[in-house]
Amino acid sequence: MNNNSLILALPKGRILKACIPLLEKANIIPEPAFFDADSRLLRFKTNDPELDIIRVRSFDVATFVAFGTASLGVCGSDVLMEFDYPDIYAPLDLNIGHCRLSVAQLANTKDKNLGDPARWSQIRVATKYPNLTRRFFAKKGVQADIVNLHGAMELAPVLKLSHLIIDLVDTGSTLKANGLQEVETIVDVSSRLIINRTALKTQSVRINALTERFRQILSPQSAA
Ligand code: PRP
Repeated sequence: MNNNSLILALPKGRILKACIPLLEKANIIPEPAFFDADSRLLRFKTNDPELDIIRVRSFDVATFVAFGTASLGVCGSDVLMEFDYPDIYAPLDLNIGHCRLSVAQLANTKDKNLGDPARWSQIRVATKYPNLTRRFFAKKGVQADIVNLHGAMELAPVLKLSHLIIDLVDTGSTLKANGLQEVETIVDVSSRLIINRTALKTQSVRINALTERFRQILSPQSAA
């Protein structure tokens, strides 16, 4: 590995799949191990000797970029809202990973107060977005007790761990399969190209060139 390589941090999971066509169009070709689901490698070379890719959890993409360990990354706007890192610049909406961040509850609840945001008072909420959740409820004058979970959020109301959840919803099928329903959409979400602000100053030529490649493939002209 080249020690001067720029590092692009990509999130594991469904966003990674959506990133692959974008990488291809931007002529960023990762080494074969990147596409091998059984590979335990976490850092990958690309066809550009000065660009490596790391594959990490979506929340960790923001952390790697905020600390400048990775100069660039692809990160959901949900994660950016949660951390609000001042060192991250997010110049491009990549138009992938579209979903929404919503409040949900049990579909068959008898508690009318839960289904009506205007009646929320003190409430327990399971989420992997503690900061965002606190801010959301504080704006409504509601004190939320937050239960931190990192996945399988939908179980929390079913097992009475919480009254509500705040989680990503795409098709809605996970909510439905677990007997939940959306109460309120907080915000629409999509994935952004993110850049460490210091790296943008110190390695501006290389980073601007890469950003421009992504901008080109997203522009309406290039789709024509
Ligand atoms: C996300 C989210 C929901 C689900 C929503 O989880 O946390 O559980 O997708 O998608 P749907 O509305 O299409 O059913 P993901 O599968 O990314 O895994 P995670 O639980 O590890 O976050």
